[in-house]
Amino acid sequence: MLKGKKILIGISGGIAAYKICTLVRLLVKQGAEVRIIMTPSAVNFVSPVTLSVLSGNEVFINMFPESPDLCNAEKTELKTWHVNFGLWADVFLIAPATANTIAKISAGIADNFLLASVLASKCPVIISPSMDDDMYKNHVTTFNIDKLKFSGYKIIEPEYGELASGLVGEGRMPEPEKLFGYLKEFFDKKSDLSGKKILITAGPTVEFIDKVRFVSNPSTGKMGFEIARAAKDRGAEVTLISGPVMLNDIAGVKRINVTSADEMLKSVKLNLRNKDLIVMAAAVEDFRPVKKVNTKIKKEDKNRFVFEFEKTPDILYFLGKNKKRYKLAGFALETENLLENAKKKLKEKNLDFIVLNNPDIHGAGFGTNTNVITIIDTKSTKSYPLMSKYDAGNEILNKFLSLK
Ligand code: C5P
Repeated sequence: MLKGKKILIGISGGIAAYKICTLVRLLVKQGAEVRIIMTPSAVNFVSPVTLSVLSGNEVFINMFPESPDLCNAEKTELKTWHVNFGLWADVFLIAPATANTIAKISAGIADNFLLASVLASKCPVIISPSMDDDMYKNHVTTFNIDKLKFSGYKIIEPEYGELASGLVGEGRMPEPEKLFGYLKEFFDKKSDLSGKKILITAGPTVEFIDKVRFVSNPSTGKMGFEIARAAKDRGAEVTLISGPVMLNDIAGVKRINVTSADEMLKSVKLNLRNKDLIVMAAAVEDFRPVKKVNTKIKKEDKNRFVFEFEKTPDILYFLGKNKKRYKLAGFALETENLLENAKKKLKEKNLDFIVLNNPDIHGAGFGTNTNVITIIDTKSTKSYPLMSKYDAGNEILNKFLSLK
């Protein structure tokens, strides 16, 4: 699994840095290509020469070459340019990640080569915190780690045990064999959706009343986009149909922008072919004005306005009714009788499973980077704790893979 994989390791200044020598050896033995960046303080714990010999590559520490002459792109082949590493790697592991490096990543600071590379990277970043028990339990560190989790970074939880300070507590970086196992599992999972074609809808729909006014809802599209990102990371071919949102494109995901429920239905129909899974995460508006006025409605001489609304097409219902080879998942955003309503929808819309979220729970629903979901099918109901929308996306994809 690791043959030819491009693994970038960022080492910050903690005593656990010595363990990385063994990790590099294990990875290289399996045929992985390993490149290493160290923070200036990490060189006090382990020698860059050792790591360079073990990885078979030059180890980078400084943001700028010592001689200004070397800044010439041709001479250096842009080797130390921060963006290159992040683009080159399949995965970026920061281990050990000190409290200082974690805090800086979480604040978006880029004042050394390792941090600049993290900020510029496009691959998944895995962080293995390693520090003293007191530092680990400090609220500021806990907050920073949570922030990283919610931003989509993967965290390898530190272990309980003897620490370099002599204290016994939490904060130990796992042994190199364990980190190796984590990377192996990461790559196993990375390809478990390869060959699968997945269609995802996201964001709100916008239904215009007149030239400039519309009915919509506060959906930001984050949930659908994170499912798309997770599916792409696991090797799927992903099509993302999105209502109007403020989110950037995801590299490797085909994105189609639509505005109204009608347009979304049309686009879904056009992109149905050969799909293995369809996830309707869009918050499709349920109503639209019967008549759309093509000019701006004047407010003069009127205190009241009456608009007539009609139902928009239920895209999910259409997909359930016409289901052939694809598996179908819907979302339910409920504020009362949550489970009952979700189960009713599961049946009525002929879904394989439904994802329930309750916008009244802190950290769930519209606009947040996190969600609290319950996945329901005809046989089981499973509730998950608060997690990033990326992780929730992975749970939804795991559910798809578990279906017979
Ligand atoms: O019935 P309800 O609208 O609450 O169901 C929500 C689910 O149905 C979501 O998955 C949503 O994307 C989908 N939906 C749809 N077309 C609509 C309204 C909702 O596909 N017009």
